[in-house]
Amino acid sequence: MEQTFIMIKPDGVQRNLVGEIIGRFEKKGFTLKGLKLTSVDSAFAKKHYADLSAQPFFNKLVEYIVSGPVVAMVWEGRNVVATGRKMIGTTNPSESAPGTIRGDYAIDMGRNVIHGSDAVESAKKEIALWFPQGIAEWKSSAHHWIFE
Ligand code: GTP
Ligand code: MG
Repeated sequence: MEQTFIMIKPDGVQRNLVGEIIGRFEKKGFTLKGLKLTSVDSAFAKKHYADLSAQPFFNKLVEYIVSGPVVAMVWEGRNVVATGRKMIGTTNPSESAPGTIRGDYAIDMGRNVIHGSDAVESAKKEIALWFPQGIAEWKSSAHHWIFE
């Protein structure tokens, strides 16, 4: 089944939003397949956001991501990449709808609490980058209560 890479950024960890964010993905019905609290260095952050290296905000973005521990996760479920992005909200939290994570918990673009893969292909790349050792193999016993 489809998987996505979700990262709670340093501000989300510092603001004690970890439980809230994990709870939203759990309650939606997605399955947690990988989870770690970790700090990354700027070389790693640059790899993760390599597609944005030409952007004027790139250095600030890298500084932000290395500024404290992050929670890296793999979530699984039907359409989880696109649905995860909807749950997260738009890049600019001031434009994110209430009810989304960024809409409810953030104001600034450079402090927008959470990352989610933007496509199935980028999810695969990001999962391989963040979990090179692989992720858990398990199937939730709630599976047939969530998927028809
Ligand atoms: P991610 O899930 O983190 O990848 O965000 P996104 O997919 O909604 O946006 P994008 O990939 O375009 O940008 C990655 C991150 O860079 C954003 O989440 C912001 O934290 C930051 N960012 C994007 N655009 C801007 C900008 O114009 N100014 C600043 N300061 N930060 C930006
Ligand atoms: Mg992105």
